[in-house]
Amino acid sequence: MRRKLAAGNWKMNGGGAELTEVEALLATHTNPKVDVLLCPPATLLHRMGQTIGNSAIATGGQDCHQNENGAHTGDISAAMVADAGARFVLTGHSERRTDHGESDACIRDKTRAAWDAGLTAVVCIGETLAQREAQNTLDILIGQLAGSIPDNATGENLVVAYEPVWAIGTGKVASLDQIGEVHDFIRMRLERRFGEGVGRSVRILYGGSVKPDNASDIFDVSNVDGALVGGASLKAADFGAIISALEASI
Ligand code: PGA
Repeated sequence: MRRKLAAGNWKMNGGGAELTEVEALLATHTNPKVDVLLCPPATLLHRMGQTIGNSAIATGGQDCHQNENGAHTGDISAAMVADAGARFVLTGHSERRTDHGESDACIRDKTRAAWDAGLTAVVCIGETLAQREAQNTLDILIGQLAGSIPDNATGENLVVAYEPVWAIGTGKVASLDQIGEVHDFIRMRLERRFGEGVGRSVRILYGGSVKPDNASDIFDVSNVDGALVGGASLKAADFGAIISALEASI
């Protein structure tokens, strides 16, 4: 069975002072019944790992370069993310796709680089509002799934995060029907491409304005294996409540 996963994406938020939130989270969720992941800014990865110590919470990077090393000022490689103690890395977040013009091909290369460094990649996909209104959602997702995920995916090296772009940071959550339709569809596409065994073992997260008050309903939707949480992952009380909701859904 797929283990549920609550993942927090701090984006460009947080410095040393905010590690108190991690301490608070550890105090209330010492032994979570689900996997818990925090993706802080790169500058905080190592220190957050030290704060977490041997507890059950994992850390992840928010991005990695597709190359192993070289003249890429300002970038960090997947091996560097792993060296900072991370076990996961996000690839293809819509803010990377938009702010940095990352294409599916680029995200595929980053995902492969993550695997080469021994990291689990959380590959993010999702349609814009215009694409949804034009009823192109499933076609867009077919393209992103095929383009952003390399061959040889497994339940260990891959997590897929479905994040409708229009729901990220907007307070607008996709309806439960919309989430269910897309998650079932992603599961079907993963099974078709990687075979039933692998396709069924890959976790599919929902992301986009997940909060303590809507998490339980979202976690009841079929093929939702957890959430990728932005804003609400910054505060231990909110993220802790989301973790508790995920535990209660088991
Ligand atoms: P949000 O962000 O929860 O603040 O909407 C989600 C994400 O971008 O991962």
